[in-house]
Amino acid sequence: MQPPFRKLTANTHAARWRMREHVRAGIKDAAAVNQFKGKVVLVTGAASGIGRATCLAFARQGAHVIASDRDIVAGTLAADTIQAKGQYAEFIGADVTKPDDIKGLVTAIVKRYGRLSCAFNNAGIEGVQANMAHYEVGSWNQVIAVNLTGVFLCMKHEIRQMQTQGNGVIVNNASIAGLAGFTSACAYVASKHGVIGVTKVAAGEYADLGIRVNAICPGFVSTPMLSRLCGDEESQRELADWLPTRRIATPEEIAEVVLWLCSPAASFVNGHALAIDGGFLARVRTSPPARRTVAKGDGK
Ligand SMILES: NC(=O)c1ccc[n+]([C@@H]2O[C@H](COP(=O)([O-])OP(=O)(O)OC[C@H]3O[C@@H](n4cnc5c(N)ncnc54)[C@H](O)[C@@H]3O)[C@@H](O)[C@H]2O)c1
Repeated sequence: MQPPFRKLTANTHAARWRMREHVRAGIKDAAAVNQFKGKVVLVTGAASGIGRATCLAFARQGAHVIASDRDIVAGTLAADTIQAKGQYAEFIGADVTKPDDIKGLVTAIVKRYGRLSCAFNNAGIEGVQANMAHYEVGSWNQVIAVNLTGVFLCMKHEIRQMQTQGNGVIVNNASIAGLAGFTSACAYVASKHGVIGVTKVAAGEYADLGIRVNAICPGFVSTPMLSRLCGDEESQRELADWLPTRRIATPEEIAEVVLWLCSPAASFVNGHALAIDGGFLARVRTSPPARRTVAKGDGK
């Protein structure tokens, strides 16, 4: 089905720009409170996109941020950016698919700070785009290893420490692809449904020990991942026009929800998968999809 593109005018561009500035200004205002002072916060996939924005948001709120990523150069740069503002961040390299890396990461944090207050398990990859019958097994395994096994490994070690200290908050980054099926992305969709599944299991297993575990389900967010999936700015503008909000989310908007879930304001929110999609999944499209014709020989 062709998305019903609305004609773009200078006015819609200007309105969108004003909206983005308004959102950014609101986020800066919200940053005035130092509500994570003294908290030790781990963020995986911290070198880029949503992870990087979340590190900056936590640091602004006084947290000791441990930024982790497999990309050592960009991860170190993210931590340096925070330190340059006089806030606290440290980079520790780790690949979430490697059990020893994750065990070592949590051990290093506890050795240095004595605790782990919050963790945002965010590292993820999009995988290739292909329909299921032609999805390579190797590509499937890679996406599941990073997006699902990675989250499991992180939770396993984070929860062991949080159990010992008797408190802690975990937020896992799923996606709207954890709540609905998106074509050409079977591994990504399966991994993100899995993230919501393990989130719910952990939430039930450890609530009585003072540990809360939730998942976020962002819609389309302006990050390098979306650029890889969507292509150039024009394609992203077309995507934005297809959304109820007529704009793509900023990583900072997602970060603010992560902070809220980690804060005492969300003290009774546990086992939840929270869509942050500007209403994308809530909307039912009213025009029927175009019929597709299947060429002879397809599906054999
Ligand atoms: N951008 C979106 O539209 C969108 C929407 C919904 C969910 N998400 C999810 O948000 C998360 C962050 O995505 P993003 O858009 O910021 O992408 P991004 O590509 O900008 O950042 C992902 C980060 O994860 C790191 N990473 C990848 N594999 C890793 C591994 N094995 N070990 C450690 N780090 C690894 C990368 O180096 C990178 O820094 C992902 O889990 C993604 O699935 C993104």
